[in-house]
Amino acid sequence: MSKDLDPADWNETRRQAHRMLDDMLDHIQNIRQQPVWQPMPQETRAEFRAPLPAAAQPLEDIHTQFLSSILPYGSGNTHPRFMGWVQGAGTVPGMLAEMLAAGLNANLGGRDHAGIEVERQLVQWVREMFGFPESASGIFVTGTSIANFMAVLVARTHAMGGGVRKSGLGKAGSRLRGYTSAAAHGCVRRAFEYAGLGADALREIATGADHRMDVGELRARIRRDRMAGLTPFMVIASAGTVDAGAIDDLAAIAALCAEEKLWFHVDGAYGALGVLSREIAPRLAGIDAADSIAFDFHKWGQVPYDAGFLLVRDGRLHMDTFASPAAYLRRDTRGLSAGSPWPCDFGPDLSRGFRALKTWFTLKAFGREKLGAMMEESCAMARHLEMRIGNEAELELAAPVGLNIVCFRYRGSDALNGEIVADMQEAGIAAPSTTMLDGRMAIRACFINHRTTIADVEALVQAALAFGRRRSGQSLAKPA
Ligand SMILES: Cc1ncc(COP(=O)(O)O)c(C=O)c1O
Repeated sequence: MSKDLDPADWNETRRQAHRMLDDMLDHIQNIRQQPVWQPMPQETRAEFRAPLPAAAQPLEDIHTQFLSSILPYGSGNTHPRFMGWVQGAGTVPGMLAEMLAAGLNANLGGRDHAGIEVERQLVQWVREMFGFPESASGIFVTGTSIANFMAVLVARTHAMGGGVRKSGLGKAGSRLRGYTSAAAHGCVRRAFEYAGLGADALREIATGADHRMDVGELRARIRRDRMAGLTPFMVIASAGTVDAGAIDDLAAIAALCAEEKLWFHVDGAYGALGVLSREIAPRLAGIDAADSIAFDFHKWGQVPYDAGFLLVRDGRLHMDTFASPAAYLRRDTRGLSAGSPWPCDFGPDLSRGFRALKTWFTLKAFGREKLGAMMEESCAMARHLEMRIGNEAELELAAPVGLNIVCFRYRGSDALNGEIVADMQEAGIAAPSTTMLDGRMAIRACFINHRTTIADVEALVQAALAFGRRRSGQSLAKPA
């Protein structure tokens, strides 16, 4: 028996590979005919409690099991009526690029090879998108949760110097305070926990009725903290809040940060890529003044999971936060060890996949204009839903529609709205999610998916009405 893991029969493997590719293309082409989501039956789940395989199995058999037991039970985010959370739908070029990346099996931690040049190309494109200087650095990471965490670490270096890596936060570090809005994503709070600053070091500033950070309150809080002997060091603004899609007043926050000499970070998980659209970009005015921006190509950018990104204006400071010398990572001017700095100097990961390739393919295959137009369509879909809710007496809007997220209710209890969402998901009709706004549950439809059409929005409205009527009819029929 050969010890290597290459195919024994390349021709048969080639045929099987083509079948697998065709099956996946068929699946994507016919996604509309599938339910958005369906629960996984117990007997299918039980297949994944099998013991560790001792012997080799034919690729064909494994793929057959994939087709019957994995493919039908995805979360549904490739489906046009998936409207839950904030999840991109992926694209065919992105999928194909993933296959090529796996074939290359490149490690993007460092060294001198084409993968690193592709990632550098992406860093340059991202600088260009946000109007950042050549000296800015960037790096692919899993997602915005990690990118926000890394930004907090860079801001910590900015406040305390590189010595913090050796000596820890100490007394001076315990006085650091950061600021974000009450509508910020929970990962911002977690970033403060992981960075050793503690969640109490993060001030959550109240938002107005528009869900944007109250900049007056931010200014007042910074002043109060300074007077109490504390050290304000960073503000984290949101470009698209997770609940309602609100964009903080980035220009006003940028000006305040400049005045107060604070690090200005933008959590633009999905909203920041709105700079690709001429229509949406003006709403992000001020983002070009950020010290750092975290965002995901796998959300509005439609790059397959995962492709998070951190951009830092001061590349030197970014490197000072993460780079460390090691004999086995010695740099040279020639050979494979050339081309310093490497991506591993800008983040905690040494082993890194080739996320840049699927992003490079996506940006080239669609171009800025088509991606921008797709995002504008998402916002048009949200406006359409807002209008439809206004026309239906049983429905009410739960938050202003700022961008591409619509939060609404079927008039009734929180429990009723939760049931309506579960009903829609289980029926496979549509998959919105829920959130709590002003202490009440809302049905949340986030338009990120490039496949969603007005007909899908209509299907969501009809399903919300039908399940709402059925359930409220039932509860009326029951004795109190
Ligand atoms: C505003 C915001 N920030 C951060 C995140 C976390 O991003 P990720 O899931 O890529 O870690 C999300 C996720 O939806 C988000 O909407």
